[in-house]
Amino acid sequence: MFRLVAGIEEAGLEDAIARLLNRVESLRYPVYREPWTRERIRRQWLSYSGYSPENLVTVITDTSVPVAIAWIYPIQGCGVVWVRIDPLIALTTATKVLEELLSYARLLFDTRGAARGVPVRVHVEPLGLVRDALYRVIPGAVAREGGALMAYKGSGVQPVLPPGYRIESRSSIAGDRGLLARIVQLVNAAFARYSWYTPSTLRDYTNYINYVEEHYRPLYLLVWSPSGELAGYLLAYIHPNLAGGISGYIEELAVHPYHQRRGLGSSLVAEATRRLHHETRYVYLNSVRGLEGFYQMLGFTVAERKAYYEADVHVLPQRNVVVM
Ligand SMILES: CC(C)(COP(=O)(O)OP(=O)(O)OC[C@H]1O[C@@H](n2cnc3c(N)ncnc32)[C@H](O)[C@@H]1OP(=O)(O)O)[C@@H](O)C(=O)NCCC(=O)NCCS
Repeated sequence: MFRLVAGIEEAGLEDAIARLLNRVESLRYPVYREPWTRERIRRQWLSYSGYSPENLVTVITDTSVPVAIAWIYPIQGCGVVWVRIDPLIALTTATKVLEELLSYARLLFDTRGAARGVPVRVHVEPLGLVRDALYRVIPGAVAREGGALMAYKGSGVQPVLPPGYRIESRSSIAGDRGLLARIVQLVNAAFARYSWYTPSTLRDYTNYINYVEEHYRPLYLLVWSPSGELAGYLLAYIHPNLAGGISGYIEELAVHPYHQRRGLGSSLVAEATRRLHHETRYVYLNSVRGLEGFYQMLGFTVAERKAYYEADVHVLPQRNVVVM
């Protein structure tokens, strides 16, 4: 009844996956939605050096329409299974599909030597249907809250930079290898506090910035310390094509641990929001869990909460799956 296809080499598959993902995401918060295209799929999966075809599987029905897609990859101390299932299928079908995908994930984690007891995070969408299917397949899955999509509503506090620090804005950094290397170092140092974070390499980050500059109108803000160090970094862009029209999106924010809690992070967000809001109706960002209050102080509200489910790798169903 189902066929699991690894990678995206099969003819026409990228477009079919893009259609599936757009259908799933049309159920989300009505304004923020970046359409999936072939190029976005390639950026998301192929441009990262950790990509390997077997990490990406599509479940296809006998009518050759994809009904689900999963991206399976390890992060520090945890395996991730990112699943999107067609919202139009029935619960019994969704349960079978999820069973196939999770058995496959288990096989992959097992063959790669995942240690006993490693938690598996299953990020599922659409939440209602897939959550019910997930509980049928893994009754022991535990729901956890992820971060949140935040939308700017206005009237946040006006932070001030400490003396001697200054913000520089740029519209392109793609050719500046020296600066890119400093940014990668800064971002890795700032995000090291999160157990789920995998450090970026200069190569991956450069690919990513090239993509951003080809497709959006970026805004980079850099905070320089009194002694000329790069202390803070923010990447935002104007997106021409989010549902709801032209929108501003704050993609990345990092302050070097040595310079934190001095008002740099909030000054960066306030400055970016002021500039983006001047040109667009909506400004969005995705907050990690626990920082929602920081963004609320700056005038954002929670538009959509994210959830994921955690389970032990040995709770995943064990069956023989055939992958094509
Ligand atoms: C989040 C981050 C950018 C904040 O930068 P910062 O320069 O330290 O922030 P500010 O000094 O402007 O903080 C202002 C206020 O925000 C709140 N705040 C700052 N960091 C916070 C955190 N990690 N958790 C909760 N509240 C926080 C505090 O109320 C703080 O005021 P206080 O220092 O008087 O208590 C920085 O901690 C960082 O780089 N973190 C790692 C990367 C990251 O999480 N990026 C954001 C992803 S969405």
